[in-house]
Amino acid sequence: MLVLGIESSCDETGIALYDSEAGLLSHALHSQVAMHAEYGGVVPELASRDHIRRVVPLLREAMARGQRTFDDIDAVAYTRGPGLAGALLVGCAFAEALAVALDKPTIPVHHLEGHLLSPLLSSDPPSFPFVGLLVSGGHTQLMRVTAVGEYELLGETLDDAAGEAFDKSAKMLGLPYPGGALLSKLAEQGDPAKYTLPRPMLHSGDLSFSFSGLKTAVLTLVREQGETLSDEFRADAARAFQEAIVEVLVKKSLKAMKQTGLKQLVVAGGVGANRQLRATLDDEARRKKFRVYYPELEFCTDNGAMIALAGCLRLLSGAPSKPAGSFAIQPRWPLMDISSHGA
Ligand code: KG4
Ligand code: ZN
Repeated sequence: MLVLGIESSCDETGIALYDSEAGLLSHALHSQVAMHAEYGGVVPELASRDHIRRVVPLLREAMARGQRTFDDIDAVAYTRGPGLAGALLVGCAFAEALAVALDKPTIPVHHLEGHLLSPLLSSDPPSFPFVGLLVSGGHTQLMRVTAVGEYELLGETLDDAAGEAFDKSAKMLGLPYPGGALLSKLAEQGDPAKYTLPRPMLHSGDLSFSFSGLKTAVLTLVREQGETLSDEFRADAARAFQEAIVEVLVKKSLKAMKQTGLKQLVVAGGVGANRQLRATLDDEARRKKFRVYYPELEFCTDNGAMIALAGCLRLLSGAPSKPAGSFAIQPRWPLMDISSHGA
């Protein structure tokens, strides 16, 4: 079965071809990061317009690289939500129109399901069940993933997402948007002993997170410095922030492993690319005898491959596709709503 996948929920346009037998055949991606950087964050209207410009050339690229024709496609999967309404509408309308033209069904996909299943694209994939730590720009959640479509929320952030905290702290340290990856580079030169920032909810006894206080602590530290921030201060502050957030993410993940008794942890979403987070989790996994799986780096952030994969796995697991032509996006959409575990 050959599934075309289309992602357009935020600031990346991604298109991919996934074959149930051969795996990922091709994927093409355009990131709008440079366009939004000028404004210090994603501008929704610009995002929608850029998706419109990119979607046809990316489709051509994915089809050519995958060496398949439109006739070979069995279904068209696309991100239905959550995300920016205008951006979602572009991918959704394009996918539905294409499917009508091809006389094939569509599979509306939950963006976070794509992230959660993305490690299955790697050559050494996890097997079900596993604990999923989803750490993206918009979400921070711990989930029990029993099978495709069976997700149980174990805990989530009460305010900012981990990626959002990275990006906002990076901005305070004078880094351009989106600063998460740049902050983590800067942190590598910082002294971990120079400043200690709070570890919010570390001892809350549950699997909830909260990162807005940590962000405020970075702001306080920055304000204490006065007008100009030295390179040394910026590196030390970045390190202090990263030490705090990584400790919270790791400790809560360990608690989720203990609570569920599972032996596999999957880390998905953009923050999963963070090197300190990976190194610390790998150390703990060795000590506590469980395995950690990450998506390939190129599939940590938004992409079409994870949407094509999730669409294909949903079809294979018996979830219904739908006739093309009618559509609705869902900008706000809890993952639990698609789970057989229910909300
Ligand atoms: O999953 P993703 O592409 O977007 C959402 O679906 O929200 O994740 C993007 C987030 C951004 O906040 C970005 O700063 C963060 O992931 N990120 C990182 C790193 N690379 C990307 N955060 C920390 N360390 C990194 N190396
Ligand atoms: Zn995402």
